[in-house]
Amino acid sequence: FYGGDYNPEQWDQATHQEDLRMFKLAGIDIATINVFSWAKNQPDEITYNFGWLDELIDSLYESGVYVCLATSTGAHPAWMATKYPDVLRVDKDGRKRKFGGRHNSCPNSPTYRLYSERIADKLAERYKDHPAVLVWHVSNEYGGDCYCDNCERAFRVWLKEKYQTLDQLNRAWNTAFWGHTFYDWDEIVLPSNLSEEWGDRYTNFQGISLDYSRFNSDSMLNCYKLEYNAIKKHVPESVVTTNLMGFFKQLDYFKWAKYMDIISWDSYPSLTTPPSETAMANDLMRGLKDGMPFMLMEQTPSQQNWQPYNSLKRPGVMRLQSYQTVAHGADTVMFFQLRRSIGACEKYHGAVIEHVGHENTRVFREVAQLGEELQRIGDRLLDSRADAKAAIVFDWDNWWAIEKSSGPTIALNYVQQIHKYYAAFYNRNVQVDMVSVDTDLSAYDLVVAPVLYMVKPGFAEKLEAFVENGGTFLTTFFSGIVNENDLVTVGGYPGELRKMLGIWVEEIDALFPDQKNKVVLKDKFGKLQGSYECGMLCDLLHTEGAEVIAEYGEDFYKGMPAVTRHTFGKGEAYYVATDPEQCFLDELIEKITTDKGIQPNLSAPSGVEVSRRVKDGISYLFVLNHNTEIVSYDLGQLEAEDLISGHQLSGTVSIEGRD
Ligand code: GAL
Repeated sequence: FYGGDYNPEQWDQATHQEDLRMFKLAGIDIATINVFSWAKNQPDEITYNFGWLDELIDSLYESGVYVCLATSTGAHPAWMATKYPDVLRVDKDGRKRKFGGRHNSCPNSPTYRLYSERIADKLAERYKDHPAVLVWHVSNEYGGDCYCDNCERAFRVWLKEKYQTLDQLNRAWNTAFWGHTFYDWDEIVLPSNLSEEWGDRYTNFQGISLDYSRFNSDSMLNCYKLEYNAIKKHVPESVVTTNLMGFFKQLDYFKWAKYMDIISWDSYPSLTTPPSETAMANDLMRGLKDGMPFMLMEQTPSQQNWQPYNSLKRPGVMRLQSYQTVAHGADTVMFFQLRRSIGACEKYHGAVIEHVGHENTRVFREVAQLGEELQRIGDRLLDSRADAKAAIVFDWDNWWAIEKSSGPTIALNYVQQIHKYYAAFYNRNVQVDMVSVDTDLSAYDLVVAPVLYMVKPGFAEKLEAFVENGGTFLTTFFSGIVNENDLVTVGGYPGELRKMLGIWVEEIDALFPDQKNKVVLKDKFGKLQGSYECGMLCDLLHTEGAEVIAEYGEDFYKGMPAVTRHTFGKGEAYYVATDPEQCFLDELIEKITTDKGIQPNLSAPSGVEVSRRVKDGISYLFVLNHNTEIVSYDLGQLEAEDLISGHQLSGTVSIEGRD
């Protein structure tokens, strides 16, 4: 499906008719509507007005456009805020908001919960049999947080359910530290800038902050679930989603994904975002539901309005990025937005139909060209899957805990570390899945878990079984440090992973940004030899059965192990004790994947990405040239059909660069 967000309530009928004409020209067959129309649908507490929506859905359907129907709860109506101030959020500094903005409702507001569920129910009841409605889109980009009294009360209930007794809670948060012991549930307040997060990260109580992150994600998820269930009550077979945002820190999307029938997400790379980062975000979205194809719900066809510098996508870039998303598992390509608004902050946001209003624009031509291509080839790709043999573990609890933790350095950024390892696969076009700690690992030959700081219950055993059965595992510095409550596993880092890795870490050195150490190879290891730069954190470790591949080259720990490998059962476990430069990781992953027989999708020149989807035994290779110049690459033994042109390909072929 091809289309995007469409807000015709901002225009007259003639404009809408013109839009329908242009949608046909562009091959657009789906429109996301009703995203922010709560105030129009419900002008007061008792009146509901869906007449305009009836007409809109009918007119779209009659002109061949399906509907992704949003529930309109992404922004509450002004009357609701005035009459029921509990819908308004309180920020981390304790300031109560007034009406304004969007994504603005308190997730624990009884009023918001009541009315958001009710409107979802009414919409589902009304449109349950409408053939235009393909997908249900709950609210919009859930996120943010709230520190109001309702949230505080709900937090206590959430904690009671989790810990049962105050004793258990006191132990889990280690409240004996600084005399923070609780004797009554009502003594617990939210960790805001007025309480536990008053100071800087060195004075935080990680246990309560970590639980607040989990609670906040769950609170929003509960709002989503209310609407989800309201829709399902009327249309059990419906496809329900909400648009996610890739690496979005506040919500544990692996948990959310269980209640989503299909994943959808909004992708907004800027001119300077490396293609590997966008690829990684797409792979994370694919991983949320074990490889199931997802929807690209939003991307801009040309420019955004919310960056400091909103550059245009250069000619060809929108097409390139769209195919990249499809290559990583998307079954839709959709835009924000189909027509530009004329007022408020998004009037300068790119759209398929620009302010000039006609089809003679560069952006429209590019959109129409892609629409024509997707109409021709889309069906063949629909529901095809990636088939990676390598996986990278990503975990929201780890993200929260690492960055809330008063660890030895402020420089540690979890997603950046994940990206460094991801890039090592990406740079060689080796397919990789992003997985959670709950994923069944048996389909993989290699599992990489960068900075596995927190080891959740049962995960160490699962990894051990994976390695014992012949799998290869790799983890890094600052791993195996704490349990799920952010309490240190005593007895030597990396705690529960120690036996499998065959090492123990005695101390952790933190380096200043311009301070470097060296990783010195003991022998040649694949293409690795000599020494490489490393920094940020350096574990000082001892081996207990592991073999040393590289050691530190400087400082008082010169000669101590920096990279180790341990044979464990039929498999191997690697430990990278520091943060080496990218070329080191590229070569390390190349050596490990080659040893495991994990092949690249295709060898291609630098800047050319090759991803693969498979269906009915047919491989679909996406060769994406992110360079500005034309490049040639060799298909080797491969005989292939160019899906877009229909030509047969073999030997050396060339691919145009983007502008
Ligand atoms: C998204 C949002 C859309 C629109 C878009 C602009 O995050 O869901 O409603 O605001 O950004 O880029």
